[in-house]
Amino acid sequence: MRNATEDNLTEAVLAKLNGAGDARFRQVMGSLIRHLHGFIRETELTEKEWLAGIQFLTAVGHKCDDKRQEFILLSDTLGVSMLVDAINHRKPRGATENTVLGPFYVSGAKDKPMWADIAEGAPGEPAYVWGRVLDVEGRPIEGAFIDVWQTDGEGFYDAQRPGDVQYARGRFTTGADGRYGFKTIKPVSYPVPTDGPVGKMLLRMGRHPYRPAHVHAIATAPGYERVATHLFVAGDEYLDSDAVFGVKHSLVVEFKDHAAGPTPDGKRSGEPFCSAEFDFRLVQA
Ligand code: BEZ
Ligand code: FE
Repeated sequence: MRNATEDNLTEAVLAKLNGAGDARFRQVMGSLIRHLHGFIRETELTEKEWLAGIQFLTAVGHKCDDKRQEFILLSDTLGVSMLVDAINHRKPRGATENTVLGPFYVSGAKDKPMWADIAEGAPGEPAYVWGRVLDVEGRPIEGAFIDVWQTDGEGFYDAQRPGDVQYARGRFTTGADGRYGFKTIKPVSYPVPTDGPVGKMLLRMGRHPYRPAHVHAIATAPGYERVATHLFVAGDEYLDSDAVFGVKHSLVVEFKDHAAGPTPDGKRSGEPFCSAEFDFRLVQA
């Protein structure tokens, strides 16, 4: 085309999609072009701002490697990950809600028996987490898997520590009563990585980078939909301002404080500990 103007350019670019065979690709690209052009028109973007945007996205790309995904962090902090999650995991009432997976999930965590200590010496306050895996009618599911991972009591995942350490992870299988349980440490709130362009963006937006304390969990069972979720610690100061918008009221769990004495695994603790009970409710596939 010749003589592109403010008025005809969007339609001209959209027309270039006519040769794309895949209908869904045409739909997604068409919408992206329309919204991108709409954004530029609405803001009357200056050339300097356009270049700053290009430089920002370039810096986001440069920060990525096989351990760090700055684009996902950008998506998380702009609420895009949770919006995609919400659209793709609409659940019936009573089902455990989904939330962001986060970058610290490692598949193939070790299988551990009921009440195993997943902390494996990591620093923090002892905690017991237990409950059941149920269907939405409240019937226990036998042979369900619960994959859990979390920070230590200093707010670090094992992957953020030097060396090849592994802690605060494990996979559990429910018995006929649908029960699971493990010993761990109480998670604490922690900042998402701020040493890259997304950290600078948060600062410029006047936002803090913290996530409220949580235990990550993926619950699955044959014949049921997988749920990737968190157990958030009730009372955490960041529950209403999670940097990645992941908190759902139904996922906030009381971590009750106990003096030294009998523990939920039937043993005794010589030091104070806390305990949290949470039932997962899975939807049939
Ligand atoms: C996490 O909970 O592990 C997490 C989620 C999103 C961004 C960074 C960390
Ligand atoms: Fe996390």
